[in-house]
Amino acid sequence: MTFRAKLIFSTAVLALAAGTARADDDSVEVLHWWTAGGEAAALNVLKEDLEAQGIGWQDMPVAGGGGAEAMTVLRARVTSGDAPTAVQMLGFDILDWANQGALANLNDLAEQEAWDEVIPAAIQEFAKVDGKWVAAPVNVHSTNWVWANKSVLDAHGIAVPANWEELTAAVEALSAAGVTPIAHGGQPWQDATVFEAVLLSTGGSDFYKAAMIDLDPEALGSETMGEVFKRMDFIRAHVDENFSGRDWNLATAMVINGEAGFQMMGDWAKGEFLRAGQVPGQDFLCFRFPGTADKVTFNADQFAMFDQGGTVSPQQAALAQAVLSPKFQSAFNVVKGSVPARTDVSDADFDDCAKQGMKDVAAAAASGDLMGSLAHGYGAPASVKNAIFDVVTAHFNGEFDSESAVDELVDAVAIAQ
Ligand code: GAL
Repeated sequence: MTFRAKLIFSTAVLALAAGTARADDDSVEVLHWWTAGGEAAALNVLKEDLEAQGIGWQDMPVAGGGGAEAMTVLRARVTSGDAPTAVQMLGFDILDWANQGALANLNDLAEQEAWDEVIPAAIQEFAKVDGKWVAAPVNVHSTNWVWANKSVLDAHGIAVPANWEELTAAVEALSAAGVTPIAHGGQPWQDATVFEAVLLSTGGSDFYKAAMIDLDPEALGSETMGEVFKRMDFIRAHVDENFSGRDWNLATAMVINGEAGFQMMGDWAKGEFLRAGQVPGQDFLCFRFPGTADKVTFNADQFAMFDQGGTVSPQQAALAQAVLSPKFQSAFNVVKGSVPARTDVSDADFDDCAKQGMKDVAAAAASGDLMGSLAHGYGAPASVKNAIFDVVTAHFNGEFDSESAVDELVDAVAIAQ
């Protein structure tokens, strides 16, 4: 039996055993990891949109930023023949499930709604497989942002740092004043989110592409990579002592509350500032990681539809259609912190950070500086991504010095491929 046949067979058996047929059910079950305040508020925009169309929502939240835990739950659900209708998914995970024949073909809808014309090529690469649309892109996040508490910076006479040297000076000034300079959550995906921004700043776009996308052993083992790990040592030396295991949104709260100066995090962090009633430019500042001003490492959240028996169910189609509608793309992303996945959505309702984000994404796409985020599944397949996470986190926690971290990285990536 092919994977798909097995899936259909076991789903049918399960439906029979439960005495219900999924097709009669007017709801969508959505597996996602949007459990922080700003994320849940954004998800609510989607729930309400569907409810207005008479489509019920079965929520399947799996907490854990970056989605590693959600992907583990997904594998267990599919293995037991009970795949959710729709799943929040990123990059290579979408390609993996599609290549196993597990995802529904959304081409009818995509043609009707002209997705080919409005979704950037960089995202289509992760939403289409063998000419078939297998996922509906919700947004474009980017990971190379820094978030700052404006009063904390003003109180210490610190201007927005434009390069690594200015960043280290700002961090040292806060440290000397007894303020935690960097709010960080010590979880592998968060360590890697900071690492990829440092890497892009240190080596530039070509180095990022060579190391994080092409997995070139020379780039991975280079002196530049040694410098990246040294810079990670600097960051590690300027986080507070309770960083280990902290959730990303709690680190954001430290900046919101003025307990820390900066957080280096993707623009989902903005959702937390907005939820706390803060205004960009007045209460908090957003700027590209110093040294990455004209570059973007992106991750686009998408909903992949699991094949529930050969055709796309009306509920799946309604979800995909809702997600891609220009009105929804604006309403959702205004709250989420991301920018629209469609290129034809007006920026009128967006705040200054998002307006800058939209310009940055368009400019980076035109100049060849729009690159997939390794930390969020758009650089390399999960096996390589996880191998890189292991080295970055072990180094961050003092297991290797920066020189051995370079050797470990080269080996780990070679073994994982
Ligand atoms: C990312 C995801 C974002 C955000 C973040 C933290 O991987 O793309 O939407 O939710 O994780 O949970």
